[in-house]
Amino acid sequence: MKIVIANDHAAVDLKMEVKTYLEDLGHEIVDVGAMEKKSCHYPEFGARAGRMVAAGEVDCGVLMCGTGAGIAMAANKIRGVRAVACSEPVTARLAKEHNHANIIAFGERIIGVEMAKAILDAWLNAECLEGRHQLRADMLDAL
Ligand code: RB5
Repeated sequence: MKIVIANDHAAVDLKMEVKTYLEDLGHEIVDVGAMEKKSCHYPEFGARAGRMVAAGEVDCGVLMCGTGAGIAMAANKIRGVRAVACSEPVTARLAKEHNHANIIAFGERIIGVEMAKAILDAWLNAECLEGRHQLRADMLDAL
């Protein structure tokens, strides 16, 4: 898959680990920054990635900041984005199955590298469930 990744200054180290992990799995990664630990603003990076997902330029996105919360909020301002911040794999799987999450987010200040990999595995390997879940995802997009 083609995956956009984005982060702020608080998640540069985790981003590098995630980027390598996803590339090793065979995914094509578009890294839209931030590249440095110099203080920056997560709304810019969340929106940048969100716009790419919403436009269909990539298949999905992975966002990282201190908690995952702020950068997910930024992405969710873009119509067509369904971003979920989570800290464990069960939410990640259900966010894909039930909410059709096209972006996952987590925080370098909250989880470690191995948990990030487990979240990515759960989310990337899950399928969007149809029926009532498709209806509700459509309802989200219509808000
Ligand atoms: C930056 O200090 C921090 O606020 C940011 O990375 C993130 O945690 C916000 O949600």
